[in-house]
Amino acid sequence: MCGIIAQSGADDAVGTLINGLERLEYRGYDSAGIAVQNGSGIAVHKRAGDVSEIREEIQTEAASGEVGIGHTRWSTHGPPTDANAHPHTSDTGNIAVVHNGVIENHAELREFLSANGHEFTSDTDTEVIPHLIEHFRQTESETMAAFRRAIDELEGSYAIAALIRDEERVYAARAGSPLVLGLDSGQYYLASDIPAFVEHTRDVAFLEDGDVVVLESDGAQIFDRNGVPVERDVERVDWNPEEVGKGHFDHYMLKEIHNQPSSIAKTIRGRVDPADGAVAFDDLDTEVLDGVREIHVVACGTSYHAALFGARLLSDAGVRTQVFRASEYAKAAGPVSDETLVVTVTQSGETADTLSALRTAAGRGATTVTVTNVVGSTAAREADQSVFIRAGPEIGVAATKTFTSQVVTLILLSQKIAMELPDATPREDLPELLAALERIPTHLDQVIEESRAADLATWLPEHEAYFFIGRGMSRPVALEGALKFKEITYEHAEGFASGQLKHGPLALVTSDTPVFGLFTGEDVDKTVTNAKEAQTRGADIIGIGPADGPGADESDAYLRVPDTHPVCQNLLANVQLQLVSYHTANQLDRPIDKPRNLAKSVTVQ
Ligand code: G6P
Repeated sequence: MCGIIAQSGADDAVGTLINGLERLEYRGYDSAGIAVQNGSGIAVHKRAGDVSEIREEIQTEAASGEVGIGHTRWSTHGPPTDANAHPHTSDTGNIAVVHNGVIENHAELREFLSANGHEFTSDTDTEVIPHLIEHFRQTESETMAAFRRAIDELEGSYAIAALIRDEERVYAARAGSPLVLGLDSGQYYLASDIPAFVEHTRDVAFLEDGDVVVLESDGAQIFDRNGVPVERDVERVDWNPEEVGKGHFDHYMLKEIHNQPSSIAKTIRGRVDPADGAVAFDDLDTEVLDGVREIHVVACGTSYHAALFGARLLSDAGVRTQVFRASEYAKAAGPVSDETLVVTVTQSGETADTLSALRTAAGRGATTVTVTNVVGSTAAREADQSVFIRAGPEIGVAATKTFTSQVVTLILLSQKIAMELPDATPREDLPELLAALERIPTHLDQVIEESRAADLATWLPEHEAYFFIGRGMSRPVALEGALKFKEITYEHAEGFASGQLKHGPLALVTSDTPVFGLFTGEDVDKTVTNAKEAQTRGADIIGIGPADGPGADESDAYLRVPDTHPVCQNLLANVQLQLVSYHTANQLDRPIDKPRNLAKSVTVQ
C-alpha cells in the first residue's frame, strides 16, 4: 500500500505535497514524510504518525522548495517508527526516495550494498533504492542511467519517486504499483491516485508498467521499459475537487454515506429503462459473453460481499456461477477454460490478491471482466473488459458508497448477462426491479434522514460481541454489516447465514450479544424465527426491515427501510447498518476514517 506524491513546477511544493498526502491517507497512515530541494540540498521531514504530524513539524520549521516528493506509509517491512518513515536517503543524503510496493529481493541487495560500504538506517525494503542509485552514480555519468540501473536490480512491485541533490527534477518509475501523472500549466504531479492532485488539475495520464518519468518544471518526459520516449494518453477526469474534501461532515465516511443517493443515481444513469425492462452498458462489449458457460466472481473484503450478491442473481438467472475470495482463487478455482467468464470486483482496481486472481484466470484461458470504480486502474487495464461503478472518489477506509454502487452495478450486469446468454433468463419481475432501482436515491434520502441509528449507538457499545444474521440475498448484507462494524468500532462482530446460527454460533449468544436481524428480502419469517431463537437465550434483537414487516414487533429495537422491491430493501438495510457502525464508532471515539491496521487499497498479497 502506501501513497506517494511528487511535484515539480514554479510553485512551492510543500503545501501541495502535504495536502496531497492527506488525500492519500486512505492508503496508509503509519508514518509520513516529504523531501524538497530547498536550494542548498535535499531537506527531509518525516516521522511516525499521520500526515498532520508532518504538517505541524513543517509549520514550525518553515520548509520550502519547488520540487519535492512525499509519502504516507502502511508498514510492511519494519514497524512504524521515525527511522522507517519515507523518504529514505543514501549515505551522503544526496538522494531521497519514496516507494509504494514491495522489493522482494531487498535482503540480497542490502547484503551487496553493505559489502560495498553502504550503511543502512532503517528496517525497510525501500532503503536499498537510494543506496543503489548512489552506487551506480559512481560509475554512470548520467543520473538517468544510474536510476535505470538501480530499478533494473529491483524485483517485486514499485512506484518510486526520487530526488537527486542539485537537480531540479523528479525521477520516477512504475512496475506493478499505481502511478498517475497530473499535467497543469507550469506544474506537474505524480501520485498513487488522482485525489492527491485533483484540486490542481484534472488532466491525467495513467502510466504503464515499465515506464520511467522525469518531471521538470517545464514538462514531463516518459520513457518505456526500453528507454524509448513515449506519449501516454491524457484524459480529463470528471472528478470534482469538492468530492475529495470532507465538506461540512466530521468524517469522510459520513460524507460518503450521505453521498449515496447521488452516487447510485450516477451508477444507474443511462443504464436502465424500466418501461421496457431494458438494461444497457455502454462500457461492455457483449462479444465478451460469446460462448460463456460458467461465471466466476472474484473479490476481497467488502467487494466480496458485493460479489456474493451479484453471484446470487446470476445463479437465479440460471447461470452456473461460483464466488471466490481472490486470495484463494488460484488454488480453489477448479477447471477454468475459454468458456469461463471471470468477473473481478474491486473498488480500487489495485488489490494485489484480486489482480493475482485476474492474471491466473487470464493465464488459464478465461475471459475477464472487471467491475471497478477507478478508470485507468491496473484491473481496468488488464481485464478484457471493464464496467465502471461510477461512485466517485471514496476516501474513508471503510467502503460505503462504493459497496452500494457495486451492488447496483452487479444487479444490472447480472440481468444484462442473463439477456445475452442463450440458456439464461432475466428475472420475471425485472421491470419492477428496475423501477425500484430508479427510486433508490429517493429511498436512501429517506433512510438517511429518518434513521434512528444514532440513538441506537448510545446504548450499543461495550457489549461482548455483536452478531448479524441474514438469509438468501440478505446474507451478504449481514456479512458486510459485521465487517463494517468490526473495522471501525474494533468491537467483535460476526455475520452469519441466519439458518447457520443454530449450528454452532448460538453457543456464543448471551444477554451480552445483540443480534442484528436482516428482515429484508426473502424468507424473512425464517430469519425472524432464527432471531427469536437468539432472543430466547437473552440476546436483544435489532431488526432491520420495512415498517410493520415480519419481525418488527418481535424486535427489541427496529430500524426501518422503505417497503420497496425485496432486492432493493437489502441495499437500504445496508445503509442503516453503515450508519449503526458509524455512530457506534463515533460514540467510542474511534478514528473512523483511518481504522487501526487497515488500508483501503491493499497492494500486497
Ligand atoms: C481492503 C480494504 C477493504 C476492501 C478490500 C478490497 O481490505 O480495507 O475495505 O473492501 O481491500 O478492495 P478493493 O479495492 O479490491 O475493492
